[in-house]
Amino acid sequence: MIINTILTTSFIFICSHYLFQQIRFQQFKGPLSLPLIGNLYDPKAPFVIQYLKSCIEKYGSIFTFWVGMKPMLVVVEPQLVRKILTDTKTFIKGPDYTEKFAVVFGEGLVTSNGERHKIDKICLGRFFTKTHIEKYHTMICEETDKMIIEELIPKVGTIMNIQDFFHLLSLRIFGKFSMEKDYSLPENKEIAKKINNGVKTGSNIIGSHIIMNIPMFSFFPSIQKVNKIVEYVDKHINEIINDKIQKMNESKIREDNILSTLILRHLDELAEDKRNTIYDHIRTTLAAGHDTTAFFGCYMAYLLANHPEVQDKIRDEMKVHITDYKSIIESEISKLSYCYCVLQEVLRLYTIIPFVNRTTTKNYVIEETQQVIPTNTTILIPLTLMNRSDKIWENPTLFKPERFLDILGHNSAKHGYFPFGYGTRTCIGSNLAITEGMIMMIKIVHQFNLYPDPTFKPEIIAGISLISKNGINVRLEKRVYESDL
Ligand code: HEM
Repeated sequence: MIINTILTTSFIFICSHYLFQQIRFQQFKGPLSLPLIGNLYDPKAPFVIQYLKSCIEKYGSIFTFWVGMKPMLVVVEPQLVRKILTDTKTFIKGPDYTEKFAVVFGEGLVTSNGERHKIDKICLGRFFTKTHIEKYHTMICEETDKMIIEELIPKVGTIMNIQDFFHLLSLRIFGKFSMEKDYSLPENKEIAKKINNGVKTGSNIIGSHIIMNIPMFSFFPSIQKVNKIVEYVDKHINEIINDKIQKMNESKIREDNILSTLILRHLDELAEDKRNTIYDHIRTTLAAGHDTTAFFGCYMAYLLANHPEVQDKIRDEMKVHITDYKSIIESEISKLSYCYCVLQEVLRLYTIIPFVNRTTTKNYVIEETQQVIPTNTTILIPLTLMNRSDKIWENPTLFKPERFLDILGHNSAKHGYFPFGYGTRTCIGSNLAITEGMIMMIKIVHQFNLYPDPTFKPEIIAGISLISKNGINVRLEKRVYESDL
């Protein structure tokens, strides 16, 4: 009897909630949804990128996507997307960020909102200006050279999975950049590997929980796994903070980096059980600052291996502007306009952050159509699909860096191209990512010819980052220059 009552009440609750949501979203097209499972009755729905691509073809640039009982509004219309990303009062980072992302990122820069975000962005933003990053060019060049000698040279001539190379390299660079931590030291190699793998796994798990609307119950094995990773990383950060505090007490010379700034800013929270804010910031920047750039490098290598003609053009441009390949300076990098287009084109075809989303704080009327987006709606913006849309790009699947010669700077956003986001929540690390991407590309293309593995095709899935499940295979052959003979 009791069970019957519970079942009937739940059934009535689910159906009425479902009907209520259906009414709220009736002005929007979208695939048929069912109570409880939404669009997930379709076996293609979990392959979100492909599924949404087919929905765009059927329903246009704005439509509903029901993940279980949660209706999301998918928007790919560039002008509307720009409005959503700039109006940070109406469209905030909602529970997907503040509850799901937050399991890893706490209340760091990616997940915070309002005043806290504003203050933190001002505090950390100065480390990501071009002028500040320029101070680290020598370090980025040195780390790249070291990694090429350690990891690439021994594998020349064989098919290699280049993913580990880029993940380790970007962690080494970000470790030195943000907190003077040297992950290349033998005693830190194991930790570096664990951080690399932990961030990759975490990105995959959190990304799928967000996109599939899976709750974050702490008894779920996947969430237990993420919590273990967070615990491990926090323990490591704790040691770094202790070392740093000791060094700061011993010496009057203060390095001006993210970690020392956070320590000085949170002096009254330095007791080991009060370091949560510092952990959140370091965990956020460490994860966002190396996993993204690593995948950027991977997809760049993959595309270049498949396009020898682009490698040749890069070399032609480098020959004109680079004088010393060991230490590449900003004034040289800024002249490499074709190389910059190559990086843009890599990010277009492999959009490292495939989805961003926002939640409405009030009803929003779309000016052009007068449709009303109800309050508390999750809006999903699939940047990866916009970047491959034939409504926005000519021959969207072609790797053609030249297309960016005409649409640099602000024009690219008008075009609907914003691989680093748009508006006040745009990526804080874009200058660093581009600098790293340029230096890695210059050094690799100068020293090697890249070839594809003819049997390999990346299996792309959407985590927080765009992940290749089966790595990235390429073959490198050493280039010989007259000066070497
Ligand atoms: C190729 C490399 C990268 C790509 C494609 C990328 C992409 C993005 C995108 C699309 C966003 C906006 C997310 C949103 O609007 O919800 C973002 C935000 C962010 N990124 Fe990156 N990113 C990259 C590298 C980096 C690096 C090197 C850092 C260094 C710490 C970084 C730190 C951040 C942070 C802290 C935010 C949040 C900014 C805020 O909300 O104020 N990213 N990134």
